Amino acid sequence: MAIILGIESSCDETSASICIDGEIKSNIIASQAIHANYGGVVPELASRAHQQHIIPTVDQAILDAKIHKNDIDAVAFTRGPGLLGSLLVGTSFAKSFALARQIPLIEVNHMQAHILAHFIEAPYPKFPFLCLTVSGGHTQIVLVHDYFNMELLGQTLDDAAGEAFDKTAKILNLPYPGGPLIDRYAKEGNPDAFKLPEPQIPELNFSFSGLKTAILYMVQAEEKKNARFLEENMADVCASVQSRIVSILLNKLKKAAKQTGVKDLAIAGGVSANSGLRDSLLQMGERYKWNVFIPQFEYCTDNAAMIAIAGYHKYCRNEFVGQDITPLARLHV
Ligand code: KG4
Ligand code: ZN
Repeated sequence: MAIILGIESSCDETSASICIDGEIKSNIIASQAIHANYGGVVPELASRAHQQHIIPTVDQAILDAKIHKNDIDAVAFTRGPGLLGSLLVGTSFAKSFALARQIPLIEVNHMQAHILAHFIEAPYPKFPFLCLTVSGGHTQIVLVHDYFNMELLGQTLDDAAGEAFDKTAKILNLPYPGGPLIDRYAKEGNPDAFKLPEPQIPELNFSFSGLKTAILYMVQAEEKKNARFLEENMADVCASVQSRIVSILLNKLKKAAKQTGVKDLAIAGGVSANSGLRDSLLQMGERYKWNVFIPQFEYCTDNAAMIAIAGYHKYCRNEFVGQDITPLARLHV
């Protein structure tokens, strides 16, 4: 039997999870509401909040899993990518825990973990599969050959998809993080109400900065005609923006499926919680006869269950690291 403690602290969620023999027994997430006051994550405040939350979060994860801390066989932590000050808290905690308990330490790549969240609950995708990883910091199309053998086929040249949602929300005077709010408004709106451009970016890469500027100009022009434009059209604007972001993402995923001939397609990362993206991918899956994999909401945004499951698969391979390991703000899949 293998009991793994997973720790996630790459951005603004402090999370701990217990995985027993590949099964997630607990997944505790402490969010940091403070950033909403600043319109985005403030790195220094994030590090301090991680320091406050880490011990109670781990205690709760152990309690919920109905185990004792002495039962834990290994500790897995997010090494990167992420905010360095935030990563240092999780890394230092994991190192101390492993040292005190004399158990192995496992480093996990956060972007790989988002993808490996698909192995938390069956049915699992079959290798090789394609994964569109869309979060606040990344937008990637990855060809997943095996658990830890992943090939980057395309990525964003500027903003990430989550940033496109969050920056648009700022233009629309919505609080941070704006992605979930745009999603909520979009449900009531007409996606064809406003025409927004689809950027022509070569190969399997993405760009969202032009779209953001187009939205800003559109809102400014409409507000000149009607000062209450946003108030009166919020649902239609959100539906149009969401529909364009989703079409940009899925057109590239379709292209990747065509190029590779792969039929198992997955989405991962915070933006995979978006209902428009989930619905459109399911529809495309039926149309093109793809096997589509969408994580449960709980495992889309940052969480330690994905770190614990990735840690479990590394534990099975005896892939451990020493106490001299350091976090990395930048790390590729
Ligand atoms: O993966 P994640 O939790 O953190 C990073 O590693 O970045 O992703 C956070 C991003 C934020 O940009 C947030 O606005 C976006 O995911 N997000 C959404 C939704 N839920 C979270 N975007 C659109 N629709 C949603 N429902
Ligand atoms: Zn993430």
